[in-house]
Amino acid sequence: MLRRLHHEQPESFAFTPANQAWAEAQMTKYPEGRQASAIIPLLWRAQEQEGWLTRPAIEYVADMLGMAYIRALEVATFYFMFQLQPVGSVAHVQVCGTLSCMICGAEDLIKVCHEKISPKAHALSADGKFSWEEVECLGACANAPMVQIGKDYYEDLTAESFAQLLDDLAAGKVPTPGPQNGRFAAEPLSGLSSLQEFESGRAQYNASAQLAKDIGDTVKRIDGTEVPLLTPWLGKAKAKAAAKPAAKPAAAAPKAADTAVPGQKPAALSAPRAGQADDLKLIKGIGPKLEQLCHSLGFYHFDQIANWSAAEIAWVDDNLEGFKGRVTRDDWVGQAQGLIEQGKTETTNRVKKGAPE
Ligand code: FES
Repeated sequence: MLRRLHHEQPESFAFTPANQAWAEAQMTKYPEGRQASAIIPLLWRAQEQEGWLTRPAIEYVADMLGMAYIRALEVATFYFMFQLQPVGSVAHVQVCGTLSCMICGAEDLIKVCHEKISPKAHALSADGKFSWEEVECLGACANAPMVQIGKDYYEDLTAESFAQLLDDLAAGKVPTPGPQNGRFAAEPLSGLSSLQEFESGRAQYNASAQLAKDIGDTVKRIDGTEVPLLTPWLGKAKAKAAAKPAAKPAAAAPKAADTAVPGQKPAALSAPRAGQADDLKLIKGIGPKLEQLCHSLGFYHFDQIANWSAAEIAWVDDNLEGFKGRVTRDDWVGQAQGLIEQGKTETTNRVKKGAPE
């Protein structure tokens, strides 16, 4: 299947503040200089927020990770889990069409999709609320046939129960995920024949269905405020730090205010000299968005950046809205100095060869 970006794209993309914080926290899981490793979780979160992966979202994530757009596009177009076209505003239904589900009635579920959603996969229903696709085995074969909607599985379906499920979603109801035929999990339909002692006292639904039920809105777009989706490893790191006994008495420890470099705004230009800005994107980590941001702050040339003092770096780091800390992280000053040196060397070589300067 040819996977291309959709012909209609929104103007822009931005993470919600909570998702932005989550995405930045994801990046801290990787060693310095290896932030591109966070590409899949960040693209995935962008998709969870919007429902599908737009071009501005892919480019936004690439900018965050200091990647060339084509690298992020390669990832987004390679994996089928990324939706490159708009999906239903209420639900995108993924129908398992692999062996167990096919034997147990997946074709009937697909017929329901044809009738209730659209004759074609990846197309929106007339009211824009639904879309569907056929996918490979989702690992719930013992509860075939089944569909996945968002994060949840709806299992042991029939054409009737699936049609009802879609009607309920269309009416704004939140159906309970899990088996739809009264089974608790994947036990025999006739009931447990062993481990019966565990039957009494268990929750009403199995663990994942119960969690989805507790969250309340299983088809909600993810805006980053969902409790189970926070960043537990950061919490652990903080807890560890808090538990560590201080090496020196508190009075001897330097205060943050003593060690932090106070920021100072570098000299800015109102426009590029001779109307020609340097291509700041040659600095690794600066993409088109960051370049624009630099221009808006009055920075157009490598020599401006190459001469920033520690206080000026601190100021710029603090004023790059959405990209805080990038100057230090990507060593813009060192890179700018290198680019100036490189330019000089190229000019010298041309002059030596007799070419006009
Ligand atoms: S065959 Fe459908 S979940 Fe495995």
